[in-house]
Amino acid sequence: MSSTTTGATPRRTVQINVPPPQSSSSTSAMFQRIRPSIVTSFLQRPLSLPFVLSIFLFIAWISLRSYRSSPPLPLSSPNLDAKANLRRFSSHFPSPIAKDNRGWILDPISLALSSTISGGAVTCASLHLGEIGPGKLRGNHRHHDCNETFVLWGAAIKFRVENSEVADIGYAEVTIGRDEVVVAASPANTAHALINIDPVRSAYFVGCQDSIINYNASSTDFNVWKDL
Ligand SMILES: *[C@@H]1O[C@H](CO)[C@@H](O)[C@H](O)[C@H]1NC(C)=O
Ligand SMILES: *[C@@H]1O[C@H](CO)[C@@H](O)[C@H](O)[C@H]1NC(C)=O
Repeated sequence: MSSTTTGATPRRTVQINVPPPQSSSSTSAMFQRIRPSIVTSFLQRPLSLPFVLSIFLFIAWISLRSYRSSPPLPLSSPNLDAKANLRRFSSHFPSPIAKDNRGWILDPISLALSSTISGGAVTCASLHLGEIGPGKLRGNHRHHDCNETFVLWGAAIKFRVENSEVADIGYAEVTIGRDEVVVAASPANTAHALINIDPVRSAYFVGCQDSIINYNASSTDFNVWKDL
């Protein structure tokens, strides 16, 4: 590399492949030549480490703050547990539903009463237990005469529930992992759909309804969502 013809600027070049300087003496060209080497030589100093770290910390703090101070989680975002009126747990120890290594156990009624979900059945006048095979769907209906509390597990599942607060689409939809157990509430007049999106595993569910469920046309709307 030849040295600059102007000689006006001390070279601060470190081991970096800055293209060889042209003989142009325009100041802006020189500035462009100098800038990368200042930055890189700064970053190579041991002292730059705390500086870079504090920048990262600052960014982390900003994002954490905006995350925490955000009920402005936009209402149009449908894929949130609170909007889907459900609570999820890890099925593995340690977890609120798996306090030792025997496996998980839960009481859906007390969870429906105590947790962040609302409007679920808190007595079981009828009870449905079942399986949803890989790729299959259950629900996609809306009961008018009962509240319902679900427990879901066993596979990757998509759970969709009506929520008028979600702009445009009017529903919330979340994905439940294979290793998760979910308690969800679907109050009367709220449509719900359970879709097993797992390629191989069966999903399982318990549905507790607070009245004797009736699947006739006046008490239940069927095929609520056409895209399912
Ligand atoms: C559903 O729950 C509401 C309270 O959230 C209650 O007023 C209503 O009676 C319940 N419906 C039935 C069928 O029990
Ligand atoms: C349909 O279900 C409702 C609510 O359970 C019940 O009151 C009504 O009698 C049922 N109608 C028929 C035709 O079975």
